[in-house]
Amino acid sequence: MKIGLFGGSFDPIHNGHLSIIEGALNSGCVDIVVVIPTVRNPFKRGRILSAAPYRFYMTKRAVEGRFKKNVFLCDIEFFLEGISYTANTIANFCDKKYLKPFLKNNGFGKKAEEDHSFYWLCGSDILPSFDKWYKPEKILENAGLLVAQRPGDPTDIESEKERIRTALGIDTDIRSFEIKGVEAASSSIRADKDFDRLPEEALDFIRTHGLYPSEDPLSKVSDKAAETYLESAVAMYPVLGEKRLLHTLNTGLLSAVYAGRFGADPDKALIAGTLHDCAKEIDIKEQKKMAMERCPELAVDEKLYHSPAGAVFAGELMGIDDEEILNAITFHTTGKADMTTLEKIVFLADKLEPSRTYTDLTLMRKLAETDLDASLMLCVRAVKNKFDAKGREIHPYTFEFMKDLGII
Ligand SMILES: [Fe+2]
Ligand SMILES: [Fe+2]
Repeated sequence: MKIGLFGGSFDPIHNGHLSIIEGALNSGCVDIVVVIPTVRNPFKRGRILSAAPYRFYMTKRAVEGRFKKNVFLCDIEFFLEGISYTANTIANFCDKKYLKPFLKNNGFGKKAEEDHSFYWLCGSDILPSFDKWYKPEKILENAGLLVAQRPGDPTDIESEKERIRTALGIDTDIRSFEIKGVEAASSSIRADKDFDRLPEEALDFIRTHGLYPSEDPLSKVSDKAAETYLESAVAMYPVLGEKRLLHTLNTGLLSAVYAGRFGADPDKALIAGTLHDCAKEIDIKEQKKMAMERCPELAVDEKLYHSPAGAVFAGELMGIDDEEILNAITFHTTGKADMTTLEKIVFLADKLEPSRTYTDLTLMRKLAETDLDASLMLCVRAVKNKFDAKGREIHPYTFEFMKDLGII
């Protein structure tokens, strides 16, 4: 089986990417394509790119919407340390320790396991600089190059092949195929907010999670906080499912926006919001133990464990030891008496982040543009009504919080 590997930041994935995949399959050079979203792009460090889980899940939706059985998504880079160099990613993917279960999980039998070859998919524009990449010889040890050429693209594949062979001393296997000229670049799509050339699934994902807003919440935080946010997103990938991970990242970004608006520290708001649900999917007994350690008063109800447990887990996962951040995580479900602005912000952002649809949030969101407490009053009332409808008692801390807000 000939396996095409297609890496990229996919921020966002657009029709140009999909036409490369389609062209590679139609060329007959590969039987399947494995799409590998880059987690830490060596050329786009810092806050240039959206957090990796957004790009991964958006790509997954778009790819699954277009291709039914011969394109697969691969999350290997979430599990590799350091910068995501192509040479390392390919070497790890091609290693049978990874490849064997990957093929098996995607329904391929022994034949594919025993007999396969790899091609790295790329645009013809990378060929002139390919030999300057990180360890290009390591890439070619594992894979040939399958080059997408746009109609009219003047790159002479044969002479590039010869040039790379001379520069690296390796006889490269370079093949090419023509793609339809879909002109699109993720960087200008992000800058212009022009989403015309996006697959429907990607557009839907962007709208659901409020990606690429006119003002980037990360522009308000320090480099260190942005780095902690991006790394937290990677660290939480193995411990949270898609929906919850995206929810907790959305909460982080909205908390940073609210912090700018209501006079709290945007760095702390970003980190607290991002990590607020980090413990929610760990074993419930473990959650209870952690909750007891952080705040025994909240270790009384299974639904509350994850808040204090989250504060403990944020320390383990990301080394967070700032008490203000840890308190905002601890009390994000119940609230308490004398909530700080930071704690209120994380409480509210958790309930109002863009993907939330549990009730009509229009008015709460509108109020949150100018008046934090007014929005909270509506929000906590709605929570109380939900509890009443289910016959559940609210926690005494929530009662205190309601008293402070003047709603009881
Ligand atoms: Fe929560
Ligand atoms: Fe939450």
